[in-house]
Amino acid sequence: MEPLDILISREALQQRVVALAQEIAAVLQSPDVVLVGPLKGAVVFMADLARALHDEGVEVCLDFMALSSYGDGTESRGTIDMAMDLQLDLAGRHVLLVDDIADTGRTLSFARERVLAHQPASLLIAVVLDKPSRREVDVPLDFVGFEIPDLFVLGYGADLAQRYRELPYIGVKR
Ligand code: IMP
Ligand code: MG
Repeated sequence: MEPLDILISREALQQRVVALAQEIAAVLQSPDVVLVGPLKGAVVFMADLARALHDEGVEVCLDFMALSSYGDGTESRGTIDMAMDLQLDLAGRHVLLVDDIADTGRTLSFARERVLAHQPASLLIAVVLDKPSRREVDVPLDFVGFEIPDLFVLGYGADLAQRYRELPYIGVKR
């Protein structure tokens, strides 16, 4: 794996996830929440956030959708493929939709509509990274880890052709 320039360090990510969990716990109107993540980019953040929410006294269930928009390149194709739908019944549940990056907004918007069709008691959205300059579809983000400019980033769930997801920091190619 070629070395990357670090954009957001492991320590900064860890601290921000703890702070986000505190913000989320303060806003949630419930002692429990269902975290819903589009596979696969959401997995790393979701795992850390689930444990940080536990530390704030929140009980967590997990559910997933398998969505993809990028193929193997660095440009969104603009359409969303769903290879797997939600498994839990979210009716009446408090749901937090999580993802690695809000880019064009299409993935989160698609996932949000799927969740809303279940008629949850509430729906909030949390992302690690927001690239507001890239937005094409409006989506309400309730919790944002970091705002970044229009860069293609890797790590902490974000991939290029399925690689780099395991990096504990966010980096960019040199
Ligand atoms: P959107 O549908 O355009 O908002 O894109 C959302 C998905 O594209 C995210 O969940 C990421 O998985 C992926 N994505 C967006 N920007 C990047 C990036 O800079 N690096 C890697 N994946 C990205
Ligand atoms: Mg992705």
